[in-house]
Amino acid sequence: MSDTAKLELDGRTLELPVIVGTEGERALDIRELRNQTGCISYDESYGNTGSCQSAITFIDGDKGILRFRGIPIEELAEYSSFVETAYLIIYGHLPAQVQRQRFSALLTEYQTIHEDMKFHFEGFPSSAHPMAILSAMINAASCFIPELTRNYDPVAFERIAARLISQVRTLAAYAYRKSHGLPSIYPKRKYAYTQNFLHMMFSSPDEDYEIHPAVLKALDLIFLLHADHEQNCSTSTVRMVASSRANLFASAAAGVCALWGPLHGGANQAVIEMLKEIQETGDDGSRFLEKVKRKDGEHRAKLMGFGHRVYKSYDPRARIIKARCDEVLEQLGVHDPLVDIAKKLEETALRDPYFLERKLYPNVDFYSGLIMQAIGIPLDMFTVIFAIGRMPGWIANYKEVIEDPGGRIYRPRQIYQGRALNHYTPSDIRC
Ligand code: ACO
Repeated sequence: MSDTAKLELDGRTLELPVIVGTEGERALDIRELRNQTGCISYDESYGNTGSCQSAITFIDGDKGILRFRGIPIEELAEYSSFVETAYLIIYGHLPAQVQRQRFSALLTEYQTIHEDMKFHFEGFPSSAHPMAILSAMINAASCFIPELTRNYDPVAFERIAARLISQVRTLAAYAYRKSHGLPSIYPKRKYAYTQNFLHMMFSSPDEDYEIHPAVLKALDLIFLLHADHEQNCSTSTVRMVASSRANLFASAAAGVCALWGPLHGGANQAVIEMLKEIQETGDDGSRFLEKVKRKDGEHRAKLMGFGHRVYKSYDPRARIIKARCDEVLEQLGVHDPLVDIAKKLEETALRDPYFLERKLYPNVDFYSGLIMQAIGIPLDMFTVIFAIGRMPGWIANYKEVIEDPGGRIYRPRQIYQGRALNHYTPSDIRC
């Protein structure tokens, strides 16, 4: 295979080096393109653009493969935990026992937020969406960490990263309690990461929430499956912000905002809303699918939880979640008619030429919302759960950007298609 590509333009030939990834993907290195030809590349929404070289996550979207630091997601889902996987993603290897203990100790040390942060929560109306509160509060939390304004230091970063992973869970639980008019619940040292989150969400000042092992296992798995997913919209946002040398908390807060949209992390909430709408209209899903295929309506209905920019086969996370969804519902003795609608929708869509031709398969959000609903997570917290899970990925990507010795600020170009030179008209002669 050749290691250069030739581009002919205006009678000149430019040689473009081919970069090969460790799993054999190939990319044309166009960094000299503009210098040599005066042209830029055009790739709206970046479907063909590699924005970085990264060692964190590998996806083969055609084969449905997902690996964190080389380890298949199926193995991590079976044998690991969210906290261990977070360490793997950030530091590049599974932790030795002493490293795991230190990491857990740091998570415990930083689990409580500064008492003054409570005043910030007071300012939000009770109708505020928890994602809005979360992103604002991550930024607010940065004001309590003076080290964030200093130059990057890998030793300090270990503590700052642990603090973010630990506190995002406390902030998320407080955001939920605030938006439901409930008093905040402090974390407990005796609880591990996911247990503590459930405790802060569902205990009350006079009674501790009893944590069902199936609920704990399911939520930990959801966090783990969301822990990273290479250059998606929110992670690219985090990298973009990090490239300006903004601090970790500011970059993560931007990631939360990007994740909120219904085409990204907000899809898990949108899936449940779609299933409820189908149920309420007495449809078994077939009428809805016809509407989707006609691309009807003001907002051109989509089958939410289906399709993916990278996966052109079944999302491996969806496969794991679907299997776990059945298990959890059985263990909790829950029968959810929405699950029946979801399965019927999936079955019908996967036989339909519209979805087959476009290679649209269920993504992680198709079943994750159903599990979250079964374990009692409120609908408006679904995307927040995704944000907690994605934090290790954002941190690892932030670290890659900051530690890259040749790193420059991210700054795409554009092709201007507006009016040509157009002089200012004084207001008295404008018509
Ligand atoms: N339902 C119906 N049609 C779809 C869907 C869907 N869910 N997804 C894509 N299509 C259609 C498009 O309309 C387009 O049709 P066309 O060829 O007739 O124009 C074709 O499939 C190709 O789709 P694109 O828009 O090019 O796909 P893109 O890669 O830009 O978008 C995305 C990917 C945003 C995930 C899209 O599939 C979608 O909107 N899905 C629903 C929302 C969702 O589930 N998001 C979660 C993604 S996973 C995550 O973020 C964790």
